[in-house]
Amino acid sequence: MSLYEFDGKRPQVPVDSFVHPDAVLTGDVKIGHECLIAPGVSIRADFGPVVIGNRSNVQDNSVIHVYPDSRVIIEEDVTVAHGVILHDAHIKSRCVIGIGAIVLFNVVCEEDVFVSVSSIVPKGMHIPAGKIVAGNPAKITYDVTDDQKIMAKAGIDYYRELCKKYIATMKAIG
Ligand SMILES: CC(C)(COP(=O)(O)OP(=O)(O)OC[C@H]1O[C@@H](n2cnc3c(N)ncnc32)[C@H](O)[C@@H]1OP(=O)(O)O)[C@@H](O)C(=O)NCCC(=O)NCCS
Repeated sequence: MSLYEFDGKRPQVPVDSFVHPDAVLTGDVKIGHECLIAPGVSIRADFGPVVIGNRSNVQDNSVIHVYPDSRVIIEEDVTVAHGVILHDAHIKSRCVIGIGAIVLFNVVCEEDVFVSVSSIVPKGMHIPAGKIVAGNPAKITYDVTDDQKIMAKAGIDYYRELCKKYIATMKAIG
């Protein structure tokens, strides 16, 4: 793993979570249980803390950073898909942040929010629970359906299994 102490603070990763060796975690990062952090992810907690809750996953090439006196909180059972940028956001449980989305300063996503693929969520937006947002700037479009919530949960379960499999079987071979 590429874990770096910074200013006396070290990333904390429990043994039942998987951080790919090509992810870089710096400073005050706290990862929960059964999380998967994919290759190319950068979590840079130098100005402030980044906390990621149990069973959440952060997929390839996503970038998480914090401004001074701020923080990023990702609660439990959250999917952060490929190529997402999160800055000073608070993402509550069971949200799905779609591929390539950008979530800006002091955004709060309440529970079960879906941010559509490639959307840009403007600074300070507070998204109520169970809403879909889309576009640039992102606007509320629809309610998340029960089927979509089931699909999000299935995604979390797939990633929990993947996490176990990576811990058990992944080897560098060259
Ligand atoms: C949020 C989401 C689930 C909604 O899916 P859906 O219900 O099938 O919705 P659609 O794709 O049909 O889009 C619904 C509306 O939002 C609009 N929309 C969707 N994404 C948009 C975007 N990025 N910007 C602007 N409008 C967008 C669509 O044009 C459509 O508009 P309409 O109702 O006027 O026709 C889906 O858009 C999405 O982003 N899923 C996340 C996928 C992902 O990244 N998963 C993680 C993989 S690891």
